[in-house]
Parts: sequence; structure tokens; C-alpha cells
Amino acid sequence: MTFKRANALKGTVTVPGDKSISHRAIMLGAISEGTTQVTNFLQGADCLSTISCFTKLGIEIENKGEEVLIHGKGLHGLHKPACVLDTGNSGTTTRLIAGILAGQTFTTELNGDASIQSRPMKRIMEPLASMGAKIESLRGNGCAPLKIEGTALHGIHYISKIASAQVKSCILLAGLYADSPTSVTEPYLSRNHSELMLKHFGASVTGEGTTARILPEPVLYGQKIRVPGDISSAAYFIAAGLIIPGSEILIKNVGVNPTRDGILRVVKDMGADITLLNENRESGEPVADLLVRHSVLHGTTIGGALIPTLIDELPVIAALACFANGTTVIQDAQELKVKESNRIDVMVENLRAMGARITGTEDGMIIEGGHPLHGAVIDSRLDHRIAMTFAVTALAADGETTIQDADCVRISYPGFYEDLYQLTKA
Ligand code: S3P
Repeated sequence: MTFKRANALKGTVTVPGDKSISHRAIMLGAISEGTTQVTNFLQGADCLSTISCFTKLGIEIENKGEEVLIHGKGLHGLHKPACVLDTGNSGTTTRLIAGILAGQTFTTELNGDASIQSRPMKRIMEPLASMGAKIESLRGNGCAPLKIEGTALHGIHYISKIASAQVKSCILLAGLYADSPTSVTEPYLSRNHSELMLKHFGASVTGEGTTARILPEPVLYGQKIRVPGDISSAAYFIAAGLIIPGSEILIKNVGVNPTRDGILRVVKDMGADITLLNENRESGEPVADLLVRHSVLHGTTIGGALIPTLIDELPVIAALACFANGTTVIQDAQELKVKESNRIDVMVENLRAMGARITGTEDGMIIEGGHPLHGAVIDSRLDHRIAMTFAVTALAADGETTIQDADCVRISYPGFYEDLYQLTKA
């Protein structure tokens, strides 16, 4: 797919539902009593993988597009699947479902695509094993395929070395099936959608600082969930609006949970003209419209507790930093290496191909901004966030940019190119 420099982007965009919240709504709906109705569900390939896994576990799920109905069977209502569960490209599906499967009375095998088969699973295998779970990496390399033999679980207090919502959520979900309370402490607070939604469904969850704690064996009840727009998808329009001269974009109904809103704090710190309007709450999650205007930006330093609040936005923030005056340093972000691709290497390689002055470090990137970029051939490595980042970057660069395997955006934002294009026509 090819892209050229765009004139000002103007208009309104409504990004699709939040990926993290959509996954969790299916999972909690499946293990609750009664029907859960989810609106604004993200129809991206990752969330469809979650639906497909729970269908194979015996849950009836009616996917009507805008609305999804999950006919839950309670905490102990899942059935042994007839085949391997395919989690596709989805780390969230793989790691969170492992926590649920560990507490069942049957054995399951989980596998996904080539990317999933190289992503680290020891981070969930170790805590689950200390709860008593029998979980094995079938190739002995700490990655999927995984075999999970359901068994009786014990509560633990786990101190995680990484701030990861996937690890935390996996352990909390396993904690539903344990014989005593389970808690997780992480170095910095990661996204708390699991805690919020578990409470909404009736679980007893408390949070203090960076520790989350859950009591076992609750009765969960089906709920109505309206999924807010995904701030990780909004990030591409935030960046486009800020770097393309003359732009003014209104992004409607975006989830602005403080454990996810790091990009807003960072771009404001860089000098962005961005305003939150119509602040509200939807199913326990804060939402707002974002009004973004082209701005003169300056470099910044991003690290520490901020990192988990914008981990998926770091590729597009690195691109944005090329258009800011001065140096931007991204540090403490070694987790970028084990996402859908190695996002440090892939960003450095592709931004350099466009003429950027960027250096990769052990835990991030250093970008010397303020130098114009030119078109290039971009290898997305089948990583949706890389493809979307470069589609936006290309609109602010000279010449023509070609993005290979551009259709990988279907993972989190199937209509992305149409929504971006429509803003160039207004
Ligand atoms: C997610 C958590 C993050 C994020 C991923 C979705 C989630 O991963 O990168 O895209 O839904 O819990 P980690 O928690 O492993 O950092």
C-alpha cells in the first residue's frame, strides 16, 4: 500500500472499541452466570480469536457486529475443547485464557501464529506453576504451544519483575479458581481493566498502590458493557493531527483510563494543543472526546512509571518525535522487544530508511527530531502498530512510502486506512 504527503487533516473520527476491554468482556462474560451484552466490541482479528477460543470451550457467543451476546455458563461451565485453541496473533488471548484454563478440570492445548510462538510465556508459566498449575511449553522453549492441565489452585502473592497487565490479569483470573486469596505486585501499575471489570461482574478485587488482590470463587453475573474507543487506536490520529500542518481532528469517545493515558501526558509535555471534551464514564471506564490541533513540538524524556501507560503507543510516539525540535529519549521500555515484533529494532530500521536520526538502545530509543523525512519501503513485520505508525508518518514525509503487509491492521483496527483517508478529504 502506498502513501504520499497529505495536506491538513480535518474532521471527526470515531475509533473502534478498546482491544483490551473487548477481550476481557468476552472472557468474563463466558465465566459468568447469564447473558453479557457487549456493545462497541472491537471486531479486530485478535478479539475474534478470543471469541473463537471460548466458542470451542462450549460457550454460545452471538456476534451481531455492533453487539455481541455471550451466554455465560458460570465459573465452572467451560467444556474440554475438541481441538487445540488457536489464539492467532493475540498475546492477550494467550496469556489471559491460560489463567482461566489452569483452574479447569480438563486439559487444553493453546497455540497461535509464528509471532505468538516466539513470545515469552514463562512470565505466566512461573506464577501459574507456583499456584499449583500444570503448564508446559511443548517445545521446551518457554513459548507456545502450551499444554495446560487443569487442576486445583492455591492463592499466592506474586511479585512480578515486569509491569504487565497480561501477567497480572492471568494471575488474577487463575485466582478466581484458587483456594485462598491471590495478589500481584508489579513494579509500576499496568492497565487495570481486568480489576475494574472483574469488580463490575461481582468479584471481590482490591487495589493498593501497585498491588491487586482477588478473593476466590465469587459468583460472577452477566453485565451490559459498552466498550470505550481504544486510545491505542486514537494515538495514530493524535500523532497525525499534531504533525501535519493545519490539521484539526476531533476523536470521539476515547477511553482515557489513567493507566492508559500516558500518550496524552507526553504530547502535552511536548507542547501539543490537545483538549479533552465531554468527559464521562462508560461501564466504569473514563471516556472523553479529544480535540487535536497541529502543534510545534519539542523533545522529551519518557521512562519509569509512564511506560506501562503508553507501551503500545511508543512506536507512534517515536515517529512523532522525529517532527519535534530537539532530542527525545525513550527509556525503561525493554518490553518493546517482545511485542508482536521487536518494536525497537523495527522502528529504528524503518525510521532510518525514511531519513530519521534515531538510535536503538537496550531499553528504548533516542531520536534527534526536527529533520525532514522522506518516503521509503517499510517492512511492517506483520505488526499492526508498525503499519499504522508508518501510514501516519508517510503523510508528513516527502515522496512516496510503501508499507508491506499493510493489511495486518485488521488485528486491532480493520477500518483504519478508510478512516485516515476520510480525514484527508475533508
Ligand atoms: C495488554 C497489555 C499490554 C499491551 C497489550 C495488551 C492487555 O501487554 O502491550 O497490547 O490487554 O492486557 P503487557 O501487559 O504484556 O505489557
